[in-house]
Amino acid sequence: MVVKFLAATALALVAVTNGAWAEDYPARTVTVIVPFAAGGPADITGRLVADIFSRHLGQKFVVENVGGAGGTTGALRAAKSPADGYTLLSGHLGTNALAPAFYPNLAYDPQKDFVPIGLSAEYPEVLVVRKDFPAATLKEFIAYAKANTDKLNAGHAGVGSVSYSGCLLLNAAIGIKPTMVPFTGTAPVINAMLAGQIDYECDPVLGPLGQIRAGNLKALAVAAKKRSPLLPDVPTSHEQGLPQFDIAPFYAIFAPAGTPQPIVDKLAEALNKGLSEEAVQKRLSELGAEVIEPGRRGPKALGELVKSEADRLLPILKAASAK
Ligand code: MLT
Repeated sequence: MVVKFLAATALALVAVTNGAWAEDYPARTVTVIVPFAAGGPADITGRLVADIFSRHLGQKFVVENVGGAGGTTGALRAAKSPADGYTLLSGHLGTNALAPAFYPNLAYDPQKDFVPIGLSAEYPEVLVVRKDFPAATLKEFIAYAKANTDKLNAGHAGVGSVSYSGCLLLNAAIGIKPTMVPFTGTAPVINAMLAGQIDYECDPVLGPLGQIRAGNLKALAVAAKKRSPLLPDVPTSHEQGLPQFDIAPFYAIFAPAGTPQPIVDKLAEALNKGLSEEAVQKRLSELGAEVIEPGRRGPKALGELVKSEADRLLPILKAASAK
């Protein structure tokens, strides 16, 4: 009886404390971990969402770039942070769904160690080659890559990153094994391509867009069924007969598991408000993302997306890795 009473009192106390936290939250600066280098798709998206939170929650949300190991270094740091709403992860398809395909001993469980807050954006990937690469179409790329696989190199943001998984799907579909060169993000991959050190990469469209438009890199295929309105002249992988190269990674906000529900709700509501703003929708479409419909926003929809993407892609990527 006494034990039951004490347990009930303790539970009530936790609920009251959590409620009080949530009322005051955020009472100080919040860190948003972006697990890749500055200047790439993860960083651009993470900063856009940090700005939404800052404006709607009246506190500073500051991005910290923690690159390494395909995003898993930063994701692990977020997973092990106190579950008090003051450290969040701006993760993505790789860090929060696919990493177990590549790291059997991953020190965090993407589905158990995080609570989803909401989807930020989804962008199709694009196959990009250096300016003087001897191919102007996917067909020519395949022919050249097959004949020169030994001297070919692909840049990516670390094993488990979405640029890695994208090129893995491409390479497995074509049957090539180039040297895969890791960086801490795709922004440094692009610099290496501009310097002629890397032949190709598979990157969400917003990453290489500026350099493609400036004519410094060539886009050969959009990894989707539908062309990107930002690159209307670039045919899709489906149009060019390579439907296996199809990937549009999600970018999303997560908190460490155990974060009090009222804080999760506050963050989800702020993100939802931001995604409804005209200026944010315009910016996201300039980056190559479609508007996320209200039904796909929030913790529940993101939890389902993580699970369905993991179920769909983990077997495909494990098989592609084994090849
Ligand atoms: C980046 O921001 O560098 C990329 O989105 C990381 C990745 O390829 O997963």
